[in-house]
Amino acid sequence: MKPATIGIIGCGVISDAYLKGAARSPFVNVKAVSDLRAAAAEEKSRLYGCLALTLDELLSDPDIEIVVNLTIPAAHAEIDRKILAAGKHVYSEKPFVVDITEAQPLLDQAARQDLRIGCAPDTFLGAGHQACRRAIDQGTIGRVIGGSVTIATRGMEHWHPDPRFFYKLGGGPHFDIGPYYITQLVNLLGPVTSVSAITTRAFETRTITSEALAGTEFPVEVPTTINGTLLFASGANVALTMSWDVYATRKAGIEIYGTEGSLFNPDPNFFGGVPEVSVRGGAWEPLPIDDLPFGVPNRTNRAGKEVADYRMVGLVDMAIGIRDRGPHRASGALAAHVQEVLTALERSSEQRAHIEIVSTVERPAVVGSGAGEEVLLTAGPV
Ligand SMILES: NC(=O)c1ccc[n+]([C@@H]2O[C@H](COP(=O)([O-])OP(=O)(O)OC[C@H]3O[C@@H](n4cnc5c(N)ncnc54)[C@H](O)[C@@H]3O)[C@@H](O)[C@H]2O)c1
Repeated sequence: MKPATIGIIGCGVISDAYLKGAARSPFVNVKAVSDLRAAAAEEKSRLYGCLALTLDELLSDPDIEIVVNLTIPAAHAEIDRKILAAGKHVYSEKPFVVDITEAQPLLDQAARQDLRIGCAPDTFLGAGHQACRRAIDQGTIGRVIGGSVTIATRGMEHWHPDPRFFYKLGGGPHFDIGPYYITQLVNLLGPVTSVSAITTRAFETRTITSEALAGTEFPVEVPTTINGTLLFASGANVALTMSWDVYATRKAGIEIYGTEGSLFNPDPNFFGGVPEVSVRGGAWEPLPIDDLPFGVPNRTNRAGKEVADYRMVGLVDMAIGIRDRGPHRASGALAAHVQEVLTALERSSEQRAHIEIVSTVERPAVVGSGAGEEVLLTAGPV
């Protein structure tokens, strides 16, 4: 297949993951990068051997087919609109939008122009998460009745060079980390129909402790502890805790409960991890993941743990979909549904009411056994 030519807007922390991921795939070729901070774009251009362009230059480059939006959340929708207006496909980092009313118009604009929208996360394509999907689809734990999700950390100000955007509109643990978890739940269980939650914030201000801005105090503008429940169209009822106010927890990840057993789903922030099942109260047993792609650890994370990180695979899947006119998995419709759910958590708390979810979406296609790493990253024509 002819590789898709890509431009990247936003040259901050996460851009390295995309630039390295692109270098692994014969299906995508990064031609140019751009950033409000020209020096940031120039640095990535030198490091990865691509052009550093202004936004207008990048958007008017006739070779560029897909533009990856790695700007801060508050800029996502505006940049996406500009990318579509320039006649190019969009692949955005999460959260898809900050204001949920911007999601459907973006999807409509893309559909009118026969353009694609893709959106992170793509971690649900990883071996650990696809193995969970396979177990559920095979009925290993019977009919799913519920589940539990816990994300609990002390926030972002100890590691990110400028963590302030995480605490402004579009931030908070639900918008920042929530998409990984809700996307995997939708991958496992299908669409959500109703949401309820109470949200709070433990601190009105926080202080940066990471290097460049250490000592800077800044205001917290979003909820930082969210406890909620999700009702799925399937009837499953899932409890949710997402917090950046917590120093330590012994609960983590996703558990799914079925009529025949329970499933532990590893951290959907990464592609790998070993899922486990317990059938009818029996011992926890690991699920096989070796036949599935994107599970082999390939980097060490900030905590010194070996993790599987294949970010960019969702984009490569979209590039292949554009060429063969097939569907892509990390789609705008999936991201819009997930974002509606996350937004509804805040609305539910504000209104002290259950919120019905208007959008619906089909579960993305599975990544088959043995078909992925080679097909999506290194193989010949599809
Ligand atoms: N940092 C991570 O580990 C991580 C992981 C997954 C996803 N993300 C997501 O990726 C996105 C970027 O995160 P980051 O950590 O790289 O942020 P960052 O602050 O390090 O980088 C964002 C970059 O976007 C640029 N930018 C902002 N507005 C712009 C505009 N209008 N036009 C052009 N450039 C603009 C900024 O100058 C900056 O260089 C966020 O949506 C975040 O949620 C980050």
